Amino acid sequence: MFAPVRGMKDLYGSSAKKYGYIIDTASRIGEKYGYNEIKTPIVEATEVFHRSIGDETDVVSKEMYSFLDKGGESITLRPEGTAGVMRAIVSENLAQSFPVKLMYHGEMFRYDRPQRGRYRQFHQLGFECVGDKSPYTDAILICMATEILNAIGIFDTKVLLNTLGDKDTREAYTKGLVKYLSRHEDKLSDDSKRRLAKNPMRILDSKDANDRAICQMAPLITDYLSKESEQYFQKVCELLEKAGINFEIDNFLVRGLDYYSETAFEFKPTRDEHRDSVGGGGRYDNLLSIFGGADISGIGFAFGIERLMLLIDDAKFKEIALKIAVIPVSETENEVAFQLLKSLYDAEISAEFIHIGTLSKKMKVADRLNCSIAVIIGEDEIKNGCFTLKFMNCEDKEEKTKVVAKSDLISFLKHIN
Ligand code: HAM
Repeated sequence: MFAPVRGMKDLYGSSAKKYGYIIDTASRIGEKYGYNEIKTPIVEATEVFHRSIGDETDVVSKEMYSFLDKGGESITLRPEGTAGVMRAIVSENLAQSFPVKLMYHGEMFRYDRPQRGRYRQFHQLGFECVGDKSPYTDAILICMATEILNAIGIFDTKVLLNTLGDKDTREAYTKGLVKYLSRHEDKLSDDSKRRLAKNPMRILDSKDANDRAICQMAPLITDYLSKESEQYFQKVCELLEKAGINFEIDNFLVRGLDYYSETAFEFKPTRDEHRDSVGGGGRYDNLLSIFGGADISGIGFAFGIERLMLLIDDAKFKEIALKIAVIPVSETENEVAFQLLKSLYDAEISAEFIHIGTLSKKMKVADRLNCSIAVIIGEDEIKNGCFTLKFMNCEDKEEKTKVVAKSDLISFLKHIN
């Protein structure tokens, strides 16, 4: 017996239903906001991720599934969707006019330690809006994300919001941060010691307990904000407040990928038992130009679909819509049953054809398949031009059975539905 690879899951039953429901709902809302779907390959040249996400991030330095293909080229299973979408905007020449608004969903891969809500293969639902830098765009995107959460029945999350400033801000901040961290260098983890020289801001999202304690007292980027970045962020906050979005400023939020500037955000569950972010994103100023495109800013976010599924009420997906078991008593009635089945499908009614075994065995199968009504077709029924209906979950003997004329069956069932 083979099990799925560690950290990867088969998706079926109510989980598969939830997945479809999330995608359908989000696509409908995304379209309303002007987003078109894009599907990029699951693998990209490894360089696509090195250049955009950054060599010193945990994602690139520890978590990527990279390997040489048979031609000796280094390729990587995508750990996130933004880099591939930017690569596609340039290579497919999609930026004929701005803004370019794209949505996507699919498998992502990160070699992380598997636990509840954290997998090695997981799914993201993402949105990218490129070519429109304004606090209004940022606020509208966050409003859309909130609308999606609410539409799929998730209300208990809040937006954590921060700014990572512009290039000048980050240059000034990096100097201040290095000055502070250098005083504690001997206590930093080996990873962080290396990052101190190469990419000090990444130390802020270290998972090491000592590093985290040291970072608690580190200077904040907000103390170094340029006038422009400060005004930009204030405007985003003001717009979100006006839109009634439940947000909280978190100056420690730095995000785990290198490409962010200005607005950064995460969607955090407010229930204690769910600590991990269900989604995150932010503005990026130079991603497109990294791939040879225009020097133009974008903003986006992605939800983790498995994490959304954990927050959606299971009961909603266990509800069984009307499902009919079409049961011929013997082989003689198979053809009439087959015709009935076809007319039920034509009338958009869900049905199962159960024709193997004794009648009591067929009834057991109907029960196992969650059918709510069994339509029995025997010799008498054919002779009298009617069907016998058995209501599977009805306790009352009198109410359990009903005979309906052949010509009335569909309208009778539609009425129940
Ligand atoms: P991220 O924060 O790395 O951002 O991932 C987004 C979401 O994916 C997370 O909030 C989480 O819900 C989910 N996620 C991440 N890793 C795992 C995992 N191992 N198992 C299950 N779920 C996971 C990005 O990926 C950016 N590309 C988002 C973005 C789009 N920024 C701008 N545009």
